[in-house]
Amino acid sequence: MVLPADDAGVARAAKALREGAVVVFPTETVYGVGADALDPAAVRRIFAAKGRPPDNPIIVHAEDAHAARRLAREWPPAAARLADRFWPGPLTIVLPRAREVPDVTTGGLDSVGIRVPDHPVAGRLLRAAGIPIAAPSANRSGRPSPTRVEDAKADLGDSVSVYLDAGPTRVGVESTVMSLLGTEPVLLRPGGVALEDLEAVLGPVRLGRGAEDAERPISPGTKYRHYAPSADLHVVHGDAAALLRRVRELSRDGTRVAVVASREHAPSWAHVRVPGARSDAAAWSHALFALLRDLDAEGFDAIVVEAIPEAGLGRAVMDRLRRAAAGGPSP
Ligand code: TXA
Ligand code: MG
Repeated sequence: MVLPADDAGVARAAKALREGAVVVFPTETVYGVGADALDPAAVRRIFAAKGRPPDNPIIVHAEDAHAARRLAREWPPAAARLADRFWPGPLTIVLPRAREVPDVTTGGLDSVGIRVPDHPVAGRLLRAAGIPIAAPSANRSGRPSPTRVEDAKADLGDSVSVYLDAGPTRVGVESTVMSLLGTEPVLLRPGGVALEDLEAVLGPVRLGRGAEDAERPISPGTKYRHYAPSADLHVVHGDAAALLRRVRELSRDGTRVAVVASREHAPSWAHVRVPGARSDAAAWSHALFALLRDLDAEGFDAIVVEAIPEAGLGRAVMDRLRRAAAGGPSP
């Protein structure tokens, strides 16, 4: 059932979590589908609800840095600096896992991704439950992440008993994932904290190979096709004229085409959605997944999206667009 995220709703969700059930709740990035991170049976219910490959580790959410620290067996100075500067917030830090974090949660890895979310409801839920919560994005595996509770409900349905509704999420793309396992920090997934801001704290950050390193993927989740609507997604670098050219090509055989473009480059076409200005990556990130889901629901066969500059949150937006457009394996 969908409950408002008031005191009664949060209390009910916390009780469900303590009893080993799975709960959908809001974070500042996207809605998550959570369970007791330290209870293997509860975490298995997340994999079942999502249809998630078992080798894809799940981020563990903690109420504060102190609680987060207990999930890792090492806490290097870089972790302390990142936690200080970016928590609560959309940053996941990958560290050697503590013994109490079970294999199912980490997809069998000896590391754990940890974050302290910056959403009042997530914070209240974590404190009320009194346990760390393992939570991936609350979509069926491969689909765009849900930024509205109804998107999570549409994907996961009755496999989840409690949904907490706190309206649309603020950031709209998932957390940045940073590995601190090696001698130098590695960016595994761009997200809600910009690379520029991380580098201001850590110095130069190496970019992870993600999908490229098929032998030994560093962030297992990045090897699958992701974030994809049912419509075919086409990312176009260029202005209104370039977008319109692609739209005309695609629509020649009767294909129904929608466009997502900046205010500056919106072409004159019947079906155009405008998240914001080209430079307003935060507006794009906030709107992107909901737009893709809405255009799917409206029955478009193809979506042409303008490429935006890869600065700040633009890096995460472009990463998600590329993955959604790529014809890689669905999980
Ligand atoms: O904003 C977010 O991060 C949302 C909210 C709910 O917190 N969660 C989320 O989780 O996006 P998920 O499961 O959809 O994506 C987690 C990503 C995956 O690519 C996974 O492979 C990676 O983080 N990850 C998690 N733990 C890891 C680990 N120990 N080592 C490497 N990558 C890890
Ligand atoms: Mg996800």
